[in-house]
Amino acid sequence: FNVPEPLNEPVLNYGPRSVERAALKAALDEARAQQLDIPMYIGGQEVRTGKTLEVRPPHDHKHLLATYHEGDASHVQQAIDAALAAKADWENLPWEQRAAIFLKAADLVAGPYRAKINAATMLGQSKNAFQAEIDAACELIDFLRFNVKYMTEIYAQQPQSGKGVWNRLEQRPLEGFVFAITPFNFTAIACNLCAAPAMMGNVVVWKPAPTQIYAANVVMQVLNEAGLPPGVINMITVDGPVAGDVIFSHPDFAGLHFTGSTHVFQNLWKIIGNNIHLYRSYPRIVGETGGKDFVLVHASADADVVNTALVRGAFEYQGQKCSAASRAYIPKSLWPAVKEKMQRDIASFKVGPVEDFGNFVNAVIDERSFDKLAKYIDEAKANPDVEIIAGGIYDKSVGYFVEPTVIEVKDPYYRTMCEELFGPVLTVYVYEDDQFEAIMDIIDKTSPYALTGSILSQDRYAIALATQRLRNAAGNFYINDKPTGAVVGQQPFGGARGSGTNDKAGSLLNLLRWVSPRTIKETF
Ligand code: NAD
Ligand code: ALA
Repeated sequence: FNVPEPLNEPVLNYGPRSVERAALKAALDEARAQQLDIPMYIGGQEVRTGKTLEVRPPHDHKHLLATYHEGDASHVQQAIDAALAAKADWENLPWEQRAAIFLKAADLVAGPYRAKINAATMLGQSKNAFQAEIDAACELIDFLRFNVKYMTEIYAQQPQSGKGVWNRLEQRPLEGFVFAITPFNFTAIACNLCAAPAMMGNVVVWKPAPTQIYAANVVMQVLNEAGLPPGVINMITVDGPVAGDVIFSHPDFAGLHFTGSTHVFQNLWKIIGNNIHLYRSYPRIVGETGGKDFVLVHASADADVVNTALVRGAFEYQGQKCSAASRAYIPKSLWPAVKEKMQRDIASFKVGPVEDFGNFVNAVIDERSFDKLAKYIDEAKANPDVEIIAGGIYDKSVGYFVEPTVIEVKDPYYRTMCEELFGPVLTVYVYEDDQFEAIMDIIDKTSPYALTGSILSQDRYAIALATQRLRNAAGNFYINDKPTGAVVGQQPFGGARGSGTNDKAGSLLNLLRWVSPRTIKETF
């Protein structure tokens, strides 16, 4: 079980005259000039249906970046057939051979594919260079390398044996295929949702979000170049419910690896429940879903630390991280200082396309998201009990730009305090300093989610109290930091309640969901 000891991939800095920036700029230029025609990948074949849909950068929706081919139910069936046909050879391949493919994929992204996958993530999902680097390069590489390590730990765990008895645990892949549904917001998550089950010997049908297909195409290219056999991971670009109808009624459906909204996940769970009699085994259901992530500030906190945690936590990648700070509870005594610093910083942020490396804020993912955010902002503007203290401006003439917006509310249950907006909007509730304990009950009750949260404080008693009282309000809890930016191997990531099954992405726990152990007892 000797595998390379994983180290987190260093984040490159893309400074103005760096070779990294030059390579990334060249990759962006090439991608913009190319107008790709993206196929589906089924059984190692590129499949084109002729029914094409368009991919446009969210920050520049007049530019046609690529087209992709929309499949139908027959392509879903083909993908299942290809997966099942690949299954026996794949699961019988020694685990080292499977591991080698994913380690090579990590090296390809760390080296020759780095600029290409970052450029695709920047253009397709409107991420700036830093946000693309920490996602499509570093986190993706870390998932692959750390999961190979965890995989060996799983295979190494064996039960005790006794005199004349040898007990063994065989970690079999699931009996059937795994369906991976991946969100638009992280290229790393897309790769991991397919690679984690595949690493453990499973075959996968993968449906990326339509707004992620451009970078998903590069993920498939990397996996193919790394030597992934045909049929092990099949990428289909098919409407969700059309794919779901075929997959969730198939007897060999064995697992769902999902990241997306709570609403869709709950619906899928119901469909699977209704079809449970059809399946050979109880399917594994792993879901990472929505969030309404909080920052709780204690009066002892440092105003600069609070400001940094809020502006980075709420506005990096336009607040479209599931972990993004979207509600903050700030004591009255600290609020004037924090407010002034936030207003100053937000006024200095440049908003614009990703190709200009000076832009901190880029576009939100699509028109649907833009319209939803504009509606919330307009509603807030019309409400006399709500004050917009920064931002509040939006414009979709060139791209889907929404300025970082801070809303101050008098009612801690105002809707932007409770609902997931998934955009650059932070809602602040200012509480009386002596209400610190009471505010924790409100935090706990305000939303159905429990993904991430932070306590900012220099007072140990306040930290201890918040850590204890808010133990069920977040699966990832941060002390004196922003609630975003979990690093694979350091902060296993995931939440419970409405935020998911909490199977911690990038951990041994997650990989264990993709095996079905068999106990073997041999008596001599
Ligand atoms: P979404 O729920 O809108 O879409 C999910 C996918 O499900 C889409 O590709 C859709 O086509 C598919 N789908 C819908 N109905 C289906 C059906 N019947 N059968 C099969 N597929 C079906 O999510 P999104 O917009 O891609 O991502 C944003 C959401 O993801 C946010 O809520 C965010 O909080 C969440 N997220 C969570 C985490 C986490 O780790 N908890 C990480 C990233 C994103
Ligand atoms: N790793 C991402 C974060 O924690 C999801 O922000």
